[in-house]
Amino acid sequence: MTLPRVARLQQLVPPLKALLEGECCGWTNLANAAAAVFSATGWHWVGFYLVDEVKDNLVLGPFQGPVACTRLFRGKGVCASAWEQKKIQVVPDVQEFPGHVACSSASRSEVVLPVLNEDGKVVAVWDIDSAKVNDFTDAEVGALLDLTGLVSVKWNDWTWSI
Ligand code: SME
Repeated sequence: MTLPRVARLQQLVPPLKALLEGECCGWTNLANAAAAVFSATGWHWVGFYLVDEVKDNLVLGPFQGPVACTRLFRGKGVCASAWEQKKIQVVPDVQEFPGHVACSSASRSEVVLPVLNEDGKVVAVWDIDSAKVNDFTDAEVGALLDLTGLVSVKWNDWTWSI
């Protein structure tokens, strides 16, 4: 029998922790984190936008799902809100979110979690989109928060050039 989605997310914590601790390449680890959540849930799009400090915007990082916008800008959209407010954004209906950036017209609800490094700085956001309205329960958001913590805690140890 298939476990409920929240349980599948919670079950990802130990294996993802082990995976992220065993590899020092940040790009590799973000790719596996996105793939783990995407394949465990069937959500429409799961991926990361990284803070580009030079250009002062967000640039698309590793993801699973349809092709997405390459850059996101301050003051516009859910990802930028998570970045600028340093606060998780849960959007039950994207059509109700002023300035929502529709990379895919199939996205109907969305959660974006800021990824903080050990200095407490937002270095990326983890963006998850669903094709259904109101598709994120509080418990699922809690599990996503735990998974985001695994990325945050290791961020400064990882290398970003090959
Ligand atoms: N909807 C996001 C843009 C990124 S895509 O969902 C992949 C936003 O409003 O920032």
